[in-house]
Amino acid sequence: MEFFLDTASLDEIARWEPLGLVDGVTTNPALLAREGGDPLRQLRAITERIGGPVSAQVTCGDAKEMVVQGHALAATAPNVVVKLPANRAGLEAARALSSDGIECNITLAFDPAQVIAFARVPVAYVSLILGRVEDFGQDGTQRVSTATRMLERMGSPTRLLVASLRNPRHLCAAIHGGADILTVPPSTWDLVFAQPLTSAGADDFARAWESLPEPARRSYERGGEA
Ligand code: G3P
Repeated sequence: MEFFLDTASLDEIARWEPLGLVDGVTTNPALLAREGGDPLRQLRAITERIGGPVSAQVTCGDAKEMVVQGHALAATAPNVVVKLPANRAGLEAARALSSDGIECNITLAFDPAQVIAFARVPVAYVSLILGRVEDFGQDGTQRVSTATRMLERMGSPTRLLVASLRNPRHLCAAIHGGADILTVPPSTWDLVFAQPLTSAGADDFARAWESLPEPARRSYERGGEA
């Protein structure tokens, strides 16, 4: 299983990459816009910063334009994966780009049925969107296991990437559901490590430790050396 970072921020990549949590990066137009400046320059900088795949999304709605833009994005760096929407135009573009040897990541897939045609291409990745489904009060987690079983049943090499992971529960649900890859927003990793029970437990232990005489604490902390 791999973990991508869902960001266009070099600062966030620098925060999480040394911790082994950045096997790849997924960007989208909103994430690039949030960084400001020149989005193509930002994309290039990300591709140079990490060795793994970097998804870059097309910004047009017409299939032929997606193919042209997909080629242009793929030409920016060898590790660019072209992100296309999970609709009919995206399918047309995915077929053309994949046959030209360009890796595609199909995004904005909400219904496992949207996976079917792309799995037949086959594309490199399909991104199932979890959090945005749950924003509408629907259960997204069942969809992950359904999509996983569908890809297995179809014998497709397409890898299931689960995105829009808003909270720690979503991470566990995506893994439990069989995702091949999780693309995790930095804010979600921050939530995972802000677990208040861990902080409270660490404070409890630290207080108890202070009750020991200092020489005993020092001996333990230095492995018995004075
Ligand atoms: O690009 C798809 C995914 O990253 C969207 O995430 O958090 O905007 O729902 P979010």
